Amino acid sequence: MTARKERQGGRSAADFLPEKFTIPELQKASRSCEGCDLYKRATQTVFGEGSPRARIMLVGEQPGDKEDLEGRPFVGPAGRILAQGLTKAGIPRENVYVTNAVKHFKWIPRGKRRIHDKPRMSEIEACRPWLEAEIAVIKPLVVICLGATAARALMGPKFRLMENRGRVFEPFWAPWLVATVHPSSLLRLQEHEERMRAFQLFVADLKKAASLLGRESKSMEEAEPVL
Ligand code: URA
Ligand code: SF4
Repeated sequence: MTARKERQGGRSAADFLPEKFTIPELQKASRSCEGCDLYKRATQTVFGEGSPRARIMLVGEQPGDKEDLEGRPFVGPAGRILAQGLTKAGIPRENVYVTNAVKHFKWIPRGKRRIHDKPRMSEIEACRPWLEAEIAVIKPLVVICLGATAARALMGPKFRLMENRGRVFEPFWAPWLVATVHPSSLLRLQEHEERMRAFQLFVADLKKAASLLGRESKSMEEAEPVL
């Protein structure tokens, strides 16, 4: 989790970081990022957003078509599923900061539509300084990775999502990390029952992540000195 420029042959978002690390400053600076080629075909940078006091950070993959046009994360169909999942899991929106591993929309044309194209590992790495900066500013207690791209961005390219979803990790840079599926994977399921089942598993992972917050306040109570 370091913004090592060497890996991208000297090019990454690290060259565009502002001096002052606040979310507004980072967001402003990210607008002119040319840390990889993805800015060339996207409408705009889609930075993270949410409460500066959020205790949960949700990390998606990259903005979709709607996000690219609006300039905000998770405002399209995947965002609707995510919002439903958060509600079901009892996670208030004020408690979350939402962002993506990659800040520009990568797409290929299909007819008149722009279809999502998976970011390469080199693009994920080039963009990671933004994500690292967001984590440094927000200092979330729990990071929830939505899908394999986010999980690989933060846990390394060997991370296996299906083996590790719902497990609680303790990376050195945050108290807890939980990975789950990307909400858009639910949209791809055709059968109603299969979709409902997948949604329940998704909600269970979110609940597991949220339950860690309770664990923290408990351990803080327990840690009170007896004078
Ligand atoms: N999918 C993502 O991963 N992020 C978004 O912001 C929207 C869709
Ligand atoms: Fe910069 Fe990330 Fe956009 Fe690449 S995808 S240009 S690194 S903001």
